[in-house]
Amino acid sequence: MVYQADSARYEKMVYSRCGDSGLKLPAISFGLWHNFGDATLLENSRQLLRHAFDLGITHFDLANNYGPPPGSAESNFGRILREDFLPWRDELIISSKAGYTMWDGPYGDWGSRKYLIASLDQSLRRMGLEYVDIFYHHRPDPETPLKETMRALDHIVRQGKALYVGLSNYPAALAREAIDILNDLGTPCLIHQPKYSMFERWVETELLDALQQKGVGCIAFSPLAGGQLTDRYLHGIPADSRAASGSRFLNPDQLTDEKLATVHALNAVAQRRGQKLSQMALAWVLRGGKVTSVLIGASKIGQLDDAVGMLTNRDFSAAECKEIDAILSGAK
Ligand SMILES: NC(=O)c1ccc[n+]([C@@H]2O[C@H](COP(=O)([O-])OP(=O)(O)OC[C@H]3O[C@@H](n4cnc5c(N)ncnc54)[C@H](OP(=O)(O)O)[C@@H]3O)[C@@H](O)[C@H]2O)c1
Repeated sequence: MVYQADSARYEKMVYSRCGDSGLKLPAISFGLWHNFGDATLLENSRQLLRHAFDLGITHFDLANNYGPPPGSAESNFGRILREDFLPWRDELIISSKAGYTMWDGPYGDWGSRKYLIASLDQSLRRMGLEYVDIFYHHRPDPETPLKETMRALDHIVRQGKALYVGLSNYPAALAREAIDILNDLGTPCLIHQPKYSMFERWVETELLDALQQKGVGCIAFSPLAGGQLTDRYLHGIPADSRAASGSRFLNPDQLTDEKLATVHALNAVAQRRGQKLSQMALAWVLRGGKVTSVLIGASKIGQLDDAVGMLTNRDFSAAECKEIDAILSGAK
């Protein structure tokens, strides 16, 4: 059936300015790391994207290596874009990245100008796009001079192949340096994409404040810790879950008794707040206003509904924050 976007979609979402830029992002963004490779039925991927956009989720996040196999998420997304979303291209923020292993030899990985420019050209071909809205350096490269990587990002924007650039997985001090270089080059850094959830709080010590000082937005990836901060694993490991899929990023060994006890305790707090644990976990990442958007994954459209359902119950009392901190530190 020909897709028609829901005309009420923009009433369902909240949009926040990304740092000091002119761009607003939805409070919830959708990542295509899982469930868009060749192992997933294209029709499932299509339903997820349609449903996300119908909920006002305007930002879809990709990378050169998403699949499996690497590149297939961009190819499948490109096909769905062509078949369903072309009338809405200007309503979408599409991102891609380069930084992890993509092809053989010394030019298919890390952060050289050679790799970044060639990789983005490949991503654009796979997605059938003339430009991406945001292009990220996916992880710091300990060998390539930072200036070379930042100059490549600046060049890509000047070529018109990306409208904005971002950093991902950069520690605070290096992020500051990279942001300063980009400013000097005249291509401000739009956004940083770090991992951040109740289970992974490293950004709180320095990075979030640094980004705020520099006027750079923040989009938090894996805010549900891959599904651990949901009701998915409260009563065992469902056959259709990420933990049962053989993923090297979430395996049953990570779901220890201690971890599950923490999840149950957090779930009790969420229930008292009248929301699902997944909803509380997303609202918690957004508390305090330093995070522009939470970047979630989903295998089912109901999970997207859950995420958007969080928007009506986002505030935390001081007592709730204290209780959550105590649970997370193992004190409760
Ligand atoms: N920059 C980087 O280095 C980097 C690294 C990783 C990810 N990312 C980005 O971040 C995006 C999200 O990562 P992620 O998938 O790990 O995020 P996540 O939101 O922490 O986990 C998503 C998974 O949690 C489960 N889930 C979601 N909503 C649920 C709900 N309401 N109830 C129960 N289970 C629910 C689903 O797993 P099931 O499959 O079990 O249903 C879903 O696939 C990626 O797609 C990618 O765009 C970036």
